This record gives sequence, structure tokens and C-alpha cells, in this order.
Amino acid sequence: MDKTTRKMLGAAAAHPNIAFIKYWGNIDDDLRLAANDSISMNLAALETATSVEFIEDDSLASDQLFINDTRIVQDAFDRVSKFIDIARNMAGIDLPAKVESFTNFPMGAGIASSAAAFAALSLATAEAAGLEYSPEFLSRYARRGSGSACRSIPSGFVEWKAGNTDETSYATSFADVTHWNLVDCIAIIDEDHKPVGSTAGHALAQTSVLQQARLDDTPRRFEACKQAILDKDFERFAEVVEQDSTIMHAVMMTSNPSLFYWAPTSVHLMKVIPNLRRSGIPVCFTLDAGPNVHAITTQDYAKTVEETLHSVDGVKTVIKSKVGGGTHLRIKK
Ligand code: PMV
Repeated sequence: MDKTTRKMLGAAAAHPNIAFIKYWGNIDDDLRLAANDSISMNLAALETATSVEFIEDDSLASDQLFINDTRIVQDAFDRVSKFIDIARNMAGIDLPAKVESFTNFPMGAGIASSAAAFAALSLATAEAAGLEYSPEFLSRYARRGSGSACRSIPSGFVEWKAGNTDETSYATSFADVTHWNLVDCIAIIDEDHKPVGSTAGHALAQTSVLQQARLDDTPRRFEACKQAILDKDFERFAEVVEQDSTIMHAVMMTSNPSLFYWAPTSVHLMKVIPNLRRSGIPVCFTLDAGPNVHAITTQDYAKTVEETLHSVDGVKTVIKSKVGGGTHLRIKK
């Protein structure tokens, strides 16, 4: 690419997402090609903003990464550097990059931050590198950093068709932000980083004898969940969302080595929340690769659900979020 056509600077913002039909396991770990289709919604209240600048003078010898103003030199740095290499190769750039990233939620809060991080990074990097990009391209690129990041590119309610090649594995929106006023009330139980992250976890999925049964039944759960969202049918939605979360955790617990993410308070909340539903409040639970419990409800009941979660021993704080939009460009401050 002609050097003069490059922008060299890109800045973007993205939200994390919560999966209703979970992605667990890859058919290709390097390309992060998921073993199954998944469904999620973006979380408006949580945001990561990232800028990428390719530096042409000699002031930078190698990439630099800053997260919330702290310089990062280890694990996350290598992952980010390799991710930028993909764009460098595509654009024919051989320059180091300075990456600055800010989150409005505590990094140690136990909320999956990699989806928002790699979604924002994919757009900021593509822009800085002067690549031509479509939403589909960005979703595929974000997926290379963190599988679930591909679902943070489109807006609102999103489906990731797993595909079986780099070209066929990306996410699209099937209902926009205003379609259904769902709210995620996240009960934070543990703020520590999880001992086994999802990248290592995906690689263990096939060691569970339950994974194949989970995969065989995924098309049914996927269709049931998508239809329930389209119909705004909370009862059907709740049933399949809770089932899908528990099936994924059954696979995790029966992997070799076993991954056990639940804490006593998580299990307690998995009883409290369905009981609340039986009392007439539309609410259901889902858990990612960690002990924190996402209680999904509707706007009218968000305050009641938040208060109930707060009153439970072991819940440190509750973060509330409505449905969010997709990844977008922003002006670097
Ligand atoms: O994108 P990753 O590698 O962080 O994997 C996400 C895995 C889960 O959060 C447990 C499920 C999902 O679909 O988001």
C-alpha cells in the first residue's frame, strides 16, 4: 500500500457482550474457529476505548501497550502484538505501534474484558493501517484476538455462525438495540482474574465426553433462543439460556483437567434467580468462565433484581447494563 494513503492513527470503542448461547471449544485454536454457533447481546454500560498509532520516526523500537495508563509488557502484550501483526501483514507495514486502551469498568472485576478489547483494537488497527474494512471483515479480524470479540462488532442482539474457515466465521446482528429492553445485572462475586482463562479452556473442551452431546444439541438451543428473542418470549428465553449455561459448565467440570468456575455464592444465586422467576419476575441466570452471575431481566424489573442480588451474602457489587450498540470509530482524546 502507498505510504501516503495510510492514516497511521485509529481510535475505536466497543462494548463487551454476554452470551445466551455459549461458545466453548474450537475446531481451530489458532484461527479461533468456534465449534458451535452462539448468540449474545452487547452491554452498553461497559466500554473499552482504544487507539493505535503506527510510529514512523525512530522514537519507538517495538510495540508499546498501555491499559488504563499502565504499561503492559507481558502476556497481554504478546497477544496484542501478534494481533496487530495480522494487520501489518495485510497492509504491508513494518512499523511499531503504540496502543492505548481505557476501560470504564475495573479490569479486575471479573467481567470478560477481552471481547471489548479485541473488538475496539480490530477497528482501531484496521483504520490506522489504512485497510479497507467491512463489518464482516472486522468481525473476522476481532475473532482472531478473542472468539467472543467477533460478536461485539455488530450492534444489539448478535449471532455468530461458527463456519469452518476464516472467511465463513463471523457475527451479524439479528435484532437491533431497541428490539427488547433487556438488562444484565451482573452480580460480582470474585474480582480476581480466573486461574484458567478461556483460551486455555477452549482447548480442553474436547477432553470432556459431554462436549459432543452439547454440540449435537446446540442447533436446537440456538434456534429456540433466537426465536424467543425475536418473539420477546421471556419464559422460553429463560429456560434455554439457563440450560445452555449449565451445559457449558458441565463440559468445563468434566474436562481433563477439570475446570470448576462456580463459587458457593454462584450456586446459591442459581437457586435464588429461578425462584424469583417463579414468583413472577422475568429473570434468568447465565455464567461465563468465572463465578460471577449475570441475571438477565427486563427494564421494568431491573431495580428489583439489582436489590435482590445486593442483599445476597457474598455479592460484592452489582453492575447493571442495557443492550449496547456495535463497535465504532471515535476521536482520540
Ligand atoms: O472469547 P473467549 O475466548 O474469551 O471465550 C468466551 C467464552 C465464554 O465467555 C465462556 C462464552 C461466550 O460465548 O462468550
